[in-house]
Amino acid sequence: MRVACDVVAFSLISTIFAGALADGSVLARAFCVFLAQFWTPRLAVATFVFNMEPYLTSRLWRAGYAAMNVVFCVPAPRVHAGSAPAAMVALSRFGGRFRIHDRSGAMRQETRTVTLSIAAAQDRDVLYQMRHQVYASELHQHPENAAGRLTDPLDEFNTYLVAKDGDEIAGFVAITPPTERGYSVDKYFTRDQVPVAFDRALYEVRLLTVNSRYRRSGIALLLMFGALRFVEAHGGQMIVAIGRIDVLHMYERAGLVPLGLQTTSGSVVYELMSASVEHLRAHLQAFAGSLERLERTVDWRLDGVSWNDAARCQHGGAFFEAIGDEFDALERRHRVINADVLDAWFDPAPAVVEKLARDLPFVMKTSPPTEASGMRRAIARARGVPESSILPGAGSSALIFAALRQWVTRASRVLILDPMYGEYAHVLEQVIGARVDRFRLSAERDYEVDPTELAALASQGFDWVVLVNPNSPSGRHVRHSDLARVIASAPETTRFWIDETYVDYVGSEQSLERMAASSANVVICKSMSKVYALSGLRAAYLCGPARLLADLSHVCPPWAVSLPAQLAACEALKATAYYRKRWDETHALRAELQWGLQALGWQVVTGCANFLLCQVPADGPTSSEVIAEARRNGLFVRDVRSMGVCFDERALRIAVKDRRANAAMLAILRAAASSRQSLSDQVPSKLETPPGIIERHKIEGERQQQDARWCRNEPP
Ligand SMILES: Cc1ncc(COP(=O)(O)O)c(C=O)c1O
Repeated sequence: MRVACDVVAFSLISTIFAGALADGSVLARAFCVFLAQFWTPRLAVATFVFNMEPYLTSRLWRAGYAAMNVVFCVPAPRVHAGSAPAAMVALSRFGGRFRIHDRSGAMRQETRTVTLSIAAAQDRDVLYQMRHQVYASELHQHPENAAGRLTDPLDEFNTYLVAKDGDEIAGFVAITPPTERGYSVDKYFTRDQVPVAFDRALYEVRLLTVNSRYRRSGIALLLMFGALRFVEAHGGQMIVAIGRIDVLHMYERAGLVPLGLQTTSGSVVYELMSASVEHLRAHLQAFAGSLERLERTVDWRLDGVSWNDAARCQHGGAFFEAIGDEFDALERRHRVINADVLDAWFDPAPAVVEKLARDLPFVMKTSPPTEASGMRRAIARARGVPESSILPGAGSSALIFAALRQWVTRASRVLILDPMYGEYAHVLEQVIGARVDRFRLSAERDYEVDPTELAALASQGFDWVVLVNPNSPSGRHVRHSDLARVIASAPETTRFWIDETYVDYVGSEQSLERMAASSANVVICKSMSKVYALSGLRAAYLCGPARLLADLSHVCPPWAVSLPAQLAACEALKATAYYRKRWDETHALRAELQWGLQALGWQVVTGCANFLLCQVPADGPTSSEVIAEARRNGLFVRDVRSMGVCFDERALRIAVKDRRANAAMLAILRAAASSRQSLSDQVPSKLETPPGIIERHKIEGERQQQDARWCRNEPP
């Protein structure tokens, strides 16, 4: 009796959760292996060892036993259809094979090389016939027609990706790029119903179709991945799609978010879905194993689209789509708020602007000093370190790529924070292929880095420990004194890379530059973009052991830092009073913004720099929805999922702006978070600073002063 119950339970589980069991996840594979272990010995025992005859005393028992064997042995009955294919698919993925149905409908598992390419003109006819077969004959979305082909006006400019097994089409998907001629969703919904910006960044993915012989074989995943890569490679940022409600779970698993709008076409009900490319990319982590295996078997022939977007890390900067990246109408910048990047809310010091403006033609036409030697001297003077400890660069991104590729190898073991500025994980894992461990920070502790835990991890013999301090996107800071102790306790062979892009917001005394210059294993990476308002010019430097930097300078090109950047950097370093004032003002602006966001019911991490990490409430729109809606109103904020595995679909990051822009941001976000209503009545007339936040900042300020005294070896 118990065995019978087990059989029925397993069959039901296999049938109901067939999709989940076929997804290739570790749990699914483990369960399928367990099922296989259960069935195989049972069949062997029942056939060769154990004689059931004496126990089958009544007709009922005999019938039950026969039915159980039918359920168990014959793959055709519905009740068994779930577990066998699921188990085979899951197991077949171990071998990177494709499972297909042969022409009689039986299943075969074969090693095949499937080709993914852009459909050629001669493929189109077959695709249109397949569309007819599936959408007219099978699903009755459209009436069948005598020609046996389905096509529509979008096909004139759609791209079809096609997966082929030899000459046979295993599946296809269509991609509609942004043009004046619209999208397929326009047939079903009016644009004001759809909470997505219909702009140059929007692509539609449709008609995901898998030949019945290849269903549940990994072809659907391959096509969805191909479509995402195609959109990404063409600069798309947002995807809209409609999906049949009976397979909605598949799209949701892929990361598409249902928007609660449905439409009926013939006998088929579709749900409208969307997601940002960034969100979908973050979701890919769930399919990492399956994709790795597919990568080995698929012949990828998508011209101009690589399998792996190793060339890219996700960044902000989408606002340039609204302004125009050929800069024909720069005045459009007044219509957008670029809070998706962390550029300074203030201008460069007047002396910097004046200096550049005064001699602009000369500055533009003249080759800069080859090694930026004057800039190097000015930085060394300002920081109180020897010149040989400074290496200037054209923005810290250039230095990150140059230095880490020089110093870190595939064999290196590196520790990074999670979450953290995404470029590091990208360069270390994707570009270099190093072995990266993550120190997972928790939302419950506001992503605070515990120095004791960090010291324990850092003592484990890593080649590099890479930190951003203060960290982005959390805005949390580890005190100079605590970090110095972590470094001191780590093995001498462990090198530390500390990105101090935002350190001046906490206090310039918090920098570890002096310590780095006199150390053998600490490198500080300092961008001059954010705190000196020079993002557009590209200026940064490394500060660290002279020998290390000298080695690196040999592989750096001449004239790497432009003349305007060198000149502005030298001048900015003199304008300390101006910048200090702006950094101080930032704290008040951030506190006001934080209060305003909390008043919307958002959870906000108390940061210390010019940005805030937020969590939108669980009962409202997701961060992708808020971001999309805000973007329609000219506000660009950042989806942070690519910066940490810890984030769900509720996290986003907002840059602090000046008081007016902060007020406008709050109005837009309030509207985006509540509904899609008009903004005219939402602009708050006045923002007040809550006493609690101010108090907290006072405490942080006192702590900073204590640290500053510590740096100067003064008594606390
Ligand atoms: C922590 C951190 N490091 C480096 C950078 C890159 O700065 P740069 O403009 O110097 O390339 C950024 C940019 O957002 C950042 O947040």
